[in-house]
Amino acid sequence: MNDNFTHTHQKIRQWYAHNGRHNLPWRTTGDPYRIYLSEVMLQQTQVKTVLERFYFPFLEKFPTLEALGSAPLDDVLKMWEGLGYYNRAKNLHKTAQILLSEGQAQGTAPTLPENIDDLIKLPGIGKNTAHAVAAFAFHQPVPVMEANVRRILCRIHTIEKVNDNKVWELAYKMVDKEYPFDYNQAMMDIGANICLPKKPLCHECPLNDICKGKAEPERYPTKVRKKVPTREEHVLLYCYDDKLALTQRSGNFLHGLWGFESVESPLCAAEYIGEVTHAYTHFKLICHVHVYHESDPSQAHYFTIGEIDRLAISKVDKKIVKRYLRSV
Ligand code: ADE
Repeated sequence: MNDNFTHTHQKIRQWYAHNGRHNLPWRTTGDPYRIYLSEVMLQQTQVKTVLERFYFPFLEKFPTLEALGSAPLDDVLKMWEGLGYYNRAKNLHKTAQILLSEGQAQGTAPTLPENIDDLIKLPGIGKNTAHAVAAFAFHQPVPVMEANVRRILCRIHTIEKVNDNKVWELAYKMVDKEYPFDYNQAMMDIGANICLPKKPLCHECPLNDICKGKAEPERYPTKVRKKVPTREEHVLLYCYDDKLALTQRSGNFLHGLWGFESVESPLCAAEYIGEVTHAYTHFKLICHVHVYHESDPSQAHYFTIGEIDRLAISKVDKKIVKRYLRSV
């Protein structure tokens, strides 16, 4: 089956040699940890943001799996601050801890496993990330899947409605088993720069001659508009002696981060200072922010603005701090 694609593989490789994003730091390293970290960061964040703001500072602080696994979770969350989807950071930390204790039991440095079945068992490593680590860190002959690659496959095969199993099956048939690294990186670049959601640049595409969907690219796949609900909350800032009260969150959402309390209804004596909004993937959040100036402290932990800067807090809570500073 793979023979059918020999010509296509050559064209993809040639295209990649001339047009690929070869300088991305996770493509110039052979260190599986650095590749794994990039894949986790890129799960929900764009290349530009990861590259310009998060990848290097994180590696400077935690240069190895060992450094990451030995660090307190609060420090890891602090380095993740602003990147969002904090479960990624917690799972990254858990995985490093697991690999570190396995290494210690064997008297070796912690290492990532090479095969997909073992990778998938680790916290935060799903099917896509396991395939990416296997292909990019260990040069295994497996396909990599993310939103852009999925779109390419749908277009080539004129699939309107994505079916995950079907798309994986097609990906496995098409992967270049001889050069999985270049092939998969190229597919990501073609998806990011050529096979665009709207108005793809088909005349520049190395897959042009096998693409059955190019006459109506925007039909494959057909975009389904998701309507996201809006959630409104009242947030009450307890202020004592120019300090603000924050609590450390438990539960699933934003677990481990410090933040402000939401309340059913704000205290009558509290002052309304405005609104802060934030778009999550599954809902839009509107926070109505109120400040209550206390003459005696009623909460457990108060922090100065300088101290808050050093805590790991969510983007929304950062926006709330900004709003507060504008009100005083
Ligand atoms: N997104 C996920 N993995 C990527 C990679 N290796 N290069 C560019 N974008 C990516």
